[in-house]
Amino acid sequence: MLVEKNVSLQPYNTFGIVARAETLVRVRSVKDLESLRGDPVLGRRPFFVLGGGSNVVLTGDVSAVVLKMEIRGRRLVRETPDAWIVEVGAGEPWHDTVDWTLEQGWPGLENLALIPGTVGAAPVQNIGAYGVELQDRFESLDAVDLATGQAFTLDAAQCAFGYRDSVFKHAPAQPGTSECLPRGMGLAGRAVITQVRFRLPKPWKPELGYLELERRAAEMGSVQPTAWQIFNWVCEIRRAKLPDPAVLGNAGSFFKNPTVTPEQCQDIIARDPKIVHYPMPDGSIKLAAGWLIDACGWKGKSVGKAAVYEKQALVLVNRGQGMDSVTGGEVMTLAKAIQTSVYERFGIRLEPEPVVV
Ligand code: EPU
Repeated sequence: MLVEKNVSLQPYNTFGIVARAETLVRVRSVKDLESLRGDPVLGRRPFFVLGGGSNVVLTGDVSAVVLKMEIRGRRLVRETPDAWIVEVGAGEPWHDTVDWTLEQGWPGLENLALIPGTVGAAPVQNIGAYGVELQDRFESLDAVDLATGQAFTLDAAQCAFGYRDSVFKHAPAQPGTSECLPRGMGLAGRAVITQVRFRLPKPWKPELGYLELERRAAEMGSVQPTAWQIFNWVCEIRRAKLPDPAVLGNAGSFFKNPTVTPEQCQDIIARDPKIVHYPMPDGSIKLAAGWLIDACGWKGKSVGKAAVYEKQALVLVNRGQGMDSVTGGEVMTLAKAIQTSVYERFGIRLEPEPVVV
């Protein structure tokens, strides 16, 4: 177990926010987690799990023990007539893993290309893009409960996946509170994901449910696109719409797309006929948060060094650099101002997507 003190977290969060960790532990194996638990000082302190830092807003220095997940390894564990089951260490970079599975001839993750972050973080918020969510390709995961030291495995149902949601985003149920997750089992601040297994289904079928992919496929006529083609299209679409965190700090979509009832949606359509909305299988309607924010005139606006990206209003960016970077406070002030104006105009409360620390 590698323990470091007073570590700058700026290189470890894609927003590029300046903050320090009092203590940072590099977790390279399950054994490192056992050592951490056995440590008389560190084992008793609260912890914060850091993957690729692509979905967090740091509002100050972190006093909880930062666990930097660096468990590596990728392998095929099983091949069945209808799937490849692939196991990947939590610390593997997500995009490289997608690329690697395609190189091995095991397609299925191509729609999720170029998402920043690590494999271990992917189930936490059930990452999704261009018609595919992690839960669609998920087999199971291994985790360690740092409260008890126990290692355990969860299947998809036990992860309680939802839209950008899972059991790992909810605090454990406190006695006397009503927790709505299955068996009251929130695992935030308690469990650490160590390995994730994917089920890549056979035979492979292209997933072209997203309008821009469908359009590109239609241009090819009757020829079916390959998984590599979809991978390249997704990379092109993302590069055109979303800022590269290596160039312009950001944490991807800053708000979730809200859902409303059909009645609420009709109400909004009556006032704003152009609102982008999608009917969901459960009868609710999902609204494009980016459109709502854009309609309130936020594109390009800023608070200090925090700004709304010009090409996609759902993304907040860092207009500063180095030590003169955006602060978590500026990001949250801008986020709150956006929430207020969307609420005042549409009566809709936007919920932030990243974890605010
Ligand atoms: N739109 C606007 N103005 C804007 C932004 C968007 O009018 O400033 C409109 C677009 O024209 C489009 C609609 O809103 O009609 C939706 O936009 P887009 O297709 O870009 O998708 P999104 O809803 O903004 C979601 C995910 C992304 C994911 C894409 C593609 C969430 C919160 N975001 O974005 O995920 O890549 O769909 O599947 O669900 C992320 O989670 O970090 C992320 C980038």
